Amino acid sequence: MISNEEMIRLAIKARENAYAPYSGFKVGAVLVTEEGRIYTGCNIENASYGESVCAERTAFFKAVSEGEKNFVKIAIVGGKEELTSKGSDNFVICYPCGTCRQVMSEFCKNGFKIILKDKEEIKEYGLNELLPFTFDKSVL
Ligand code: THU
Repeated sequence: MISNEEMIRLAIKARENAYAPYSGFKVGAVLVTEEGRIYTGCNIENASYGESVCAERTAFFKAVSEGEKNFVKIAIVGGKEELTSKGSDNFVICYPCGTCRQVMSEFCKNGFKIILKDKEEIKEYGLNELLPFTFDKSVL
């Protein structure tokens, strides 16, 4: 299974394709399936701001549209382009937004991990820590 460090490296690479002319905040994500397959994502903004999509959902929707439903972890990196172009020390810790947490909860079991790059260190959280008391299909 791919290491967290390697995932962060690939997320930084995926972030290069971010389309963020409005916010200038570029995000990259790397999603790993139970079988070890990898799907990347970046944020894609739109002149109609509300139609923008986050890097995490890009990765999830790519994967699900290819038939994947079982995931183990996602790495996310982000930061303002004007700062990060000066060096990777200028990345900020990029917690997934509420909408992306909800999308993750649809497909991810309790052990699913979210891996984030802070300035110098890599942090790992459980989805259950970032989204307790989920609204899910068990009540429908
Ligand atoms: N964004 C992400 O792609 N993922 C996150 O977890 C937080 C925010 C994007 C959305 C928008 O394009 C830009 O970052 C600024 O909000």
